[in-house]
Amino acid sequence: LPEIITNKDEMRKWSRAMRCRGNTIALVPTMGYLHQGHLSLVEKARSLADVVVVSIYVNPGQFSPSEDLSTYPSDFDGDIRKLGSVSGCRRVDAVFHPRNLYDYGIIGRKGKGGIEFEGLREEGETGLPASGVSSCVEEMGGGHETWVKVERLERGLCGKSRPVFFRGVATVVTKLFNIVDPDVAVFGKKDYQQWRIVQRMVRDLDFGIRIVGSDILREEDGLAMSSRNVRLSPEDREKALSISKSLFQAKSLAETGQTNCGELRDSLVQAITGAGGKVDYVEIVDQQSLETVGEVNSPVVICIAAWFGNVRLIDNIEISV
Ligand code: PAJ
Repeated sequence: LPEIITNKDEMRKWSRAMRCRGNTIALVPTMGYLHQGHLSLVEKARSLADVVVVSIYVNPGQFSPSEDLSTYPSDFDGDIRKLGSVSGCRRVDAVFHPRNLYDYGIIGRKGKGGIEFEGLREEGETGLPASGVSSCVEEMGGGHETWVKVERLERGLCGKSRPVFFRGVATVVTKLFNIVDPDVAVFGKKDYQQWRIVQRMVRDLDFGIRIVGSDILREEDGLAMSSRNVRLSPEDREKALSISKSLFQAKSLAETGQTNCGELRDSLVQAITGAGGKVDYVEIVDQQSLETVGEVNSPVVICIAAWFGNVRLIDNIEISV
């Protein structure tokens, strides 16, 4: 079984000890409710370093008050069982699980509430002071005054409809990097914009950590694996296949000469809307800058966010022509 570490000083000690023995460290940050996609990141991480740390932390700071923190799935015991049952190339050495009010059932899961708390938010913006109740149970701290913002890259795509999301992600990832002090960290290309933002942040702020992107793992029928998939009704899950189907189709169209982004985009929107989904965005952007392009004549990525029922799904496909 992996070692479970809930305290940040303990985590630092563990990393320091590993390093003293000459080991390199890989970190895989997650919000738990682990699936095969997460485990594929572990496999990648194992190939890049001597020891692997998985962090499990549902970060309140990346959810806005109207978002799905309250229904975000969690099963810490199940996660540990999963990590304990894999061996060899998917073995995990330590799990960093800083507890927060979500884990104590004080925020998040409906019905257990009582205290209104918004976690890693701005000082004064939360219902609680930075000290007191929150700091007793919030290993990662509440009432933030300091934020990491990757100005341009976080503006488009998911940043439009989720204004605090990437600020929350970049800040918590910075904290995890400072606590775990890894040599390399692995991120899924499933969250393409997130991966690019973390890469840019590491470059801009000289973290000295290698950021590696790992391919999207899909279900047999093409649906990108996600912790949120369990919240889809069987009907919506079927309809949601329109996302991956239309992405694969657009890729083959682009590769056979249909390179006009306007037309490609229209066909994607139509396919998803036709299946009963509500499109948040469909964008064809440069793989590095994430700026919209008009023609597929350089490496691009098609990014989609769409709602099926009350579940927001994202997916993308890289095209390198
Ligand atoms: P979470 O959604 O749990 O995802 C953790 C990591 O798993 C991310 O890097 C994500 O891109 C990757 N991942 C998820 N589904 C995948 C799939 N089907 N194939 C490949 N990789 C997949 O992303 C987050 O958590 C958070 O924002 C976090 C980075 C932990 C910061 O809180």
